[in-house]
Amino acid sequence: MKNHKVLMLLACCSMLICSCQKPKPIVLIPEPVQCTPKSGNFTIDSDTYLCFENLSGQASETSKAIHNSYKKMFKLRPNLGDKSSCHRNYILFELNDKEDKAIGAEGYTLVVKRGHIIAKANTPAGLFYAFQTICQMAYPDLLADSKTFSIPCAKITDYPRFAYRGTHLDVSRHFFDVKFIKRYIDLLASYKINKFHWHLTDDHGWRIQIDRYPALTKVGAWRPERSSWDTLHPVLPEEPATYGGYYTKEQIRDIVRYAAARHIDIIPEIEIPGHCSAILATYPQYACDDYPYTVAVGPYWPPKAIMCAGNDDVLTFYKNVLDEVAELFPYPYIHIGGDEAFNDNWQVCPKCQKRIADKGLADETALQQWLMNEIEQHLKQLGKKAIMWDDIVSDDMVNQCAVMCWQGIDVAKTAAKHGNEVILCPTSHCYFNFYQEDPEKEPLAMTGLITLEKAYEFDPMPQGLTKEQEKKILGGQCNLWSEFINTPEQAEYMLLPRLCALSECVWSPANKKDFKNFSQRVSYHQQFLSKNGYNCRK
Ligand code: ACM
Ligand code: ZN
Repeated sequence: MKNHKVLMLLACCSMLICSCQKPKPIVLIPEPVQCTPKSGNFTIDSDTYLCFENLSGQASETSKAIHNSYKKMFKLRPNLGDKSSCHRNYILFELNDKEDKAIGAEGYTLVVKRGHIIAKANTPAGLFYAFQTICQMAYPDLLADSKTFSIPCAKITDYPRFAYRGTHLDVSRHFFDVKFIKRYIDLLASYKINKFHWHLTDDHGWRIQIDRYPALTKVGAWRPERSSWDTLHPVLPEEPATYGGYYTKEQIRDIVRYAAARHIDIIPEIEIPGHCSAILATYPQYACDDYPYTVAVGPYWPPKAIMCAGNDDVLTFYKNVLDEVAELFPYPYIHIGGDEAFNDNWQVCPKCQKRIADKGLADETALQQWLMNEIEQHLKQLGKKAIMWDDIVSDDMVNQCAVMCWQGIDVAKTAAKHGNEVILCPTSHCYFNFYQEDPEKEPLAMTGLITLEKAYEFDPMPQGLTKEQEKKILGGQCNLWSEFINTPEQAEYMLLPRLCALSECVWSPANKKDFKNFSQRVSYHQQFLSKNGYNCRK
């Protein structure tokens, strides 16, 4: 009897302590479509079951990814099972037998109760995103180094606003190794980004193995290493080309698989016809002139480098290269550049002028459209679609490609009205190579200022489009050009926490965006990212 009283007293005390505990904040980024908090918590501990239902065949890649990520995140080895093992203390990831139309292809529902969590989705991608949400709900306990993790009870329904949610990385101006690319992909996945735009070729280095043109990576991937970039000091003949690197096909296949397991498609970019010094340093015969091109060394590219559009061998070169690229990357879109192609050389090149005359083209701008269209048609034969930078857009454009708009919203509207698919990444909000704060106090970056608040203002949907035209807006992305980003640490510093803002801009409903509220949530993410070794700006 006495023992019974003591037990009763202890139970009352513990109830009192529980009811006095502050509820754990829910600090999700991106903000979900609907989140209704309930009282209580589910606790992840060493007895928790991780159960998967209907995830067989290809979908088992997602259960493996969730399992591995769970072990890493919580430093726990879960019991594994399926729905029949779900009795108590379990997290069930279940693919719907019957489509839940409300959540679409990438959405999920999540019910967190005291005894279990149930995540449901129409696709493995949706379950993967549900898992990202569960992880973020544990951030307060992960930050506190708890051994068990309270997930606040809630009912969540969530799905993305845009199908294209991208992040770009320029690996030409500075090279980033496979280990970092995977780390980058992990980061994107945790913020429900589903496209990685891999800028693989530019003036400063060619970064992809092409079997038919081995010299591209023997010569074009390397340049002299300078302690500081200096545009006024071109490459000297005696300077050894020691800086650079490239990805082998084996490495690329490995990265494509790694990204696919995290529901990220990779869009490779092969720049046409400008930004080509690395090609011309390797194959000078593809230029209009006999200028001694080198792989570029300064932060600003030599604008006159352009491939000769009057030379049939140039077309053959690009088609051969793209045949190999198309084979490596399963995603249907390939980016073929088209930006900042200064055509001064074309204006005085007899071959280019002959092409203009032969094809009955109006001028050099039309010549670029023609060239890009030839490549686009070749991609079509390979079952691929082209993406081009918005420099190609005009009222009378012939290209059917998807357009990536960096120069502003107006050009995006023109492209959408023209019937082209559109991805927005305007310099005004999405160039994360620009300064984040006062340049006086920040490490050297590209001129321009995009604060976290400015990044958060990004709305990928332009005003004033019809419903039909709005369907052409696939989504948005941020760009990380690496002229002034020469280490993984610096890449992370420029990306974080602005990636958090971007993810909310492309995922969350427009009417749920609230910078003040976001700022509170992002502070947990800054702490979490820093604690996990990411160089996140405070
Ligand atoms: C670009 O920034 N030139 C696409
Ligand atoms: Zn030419």
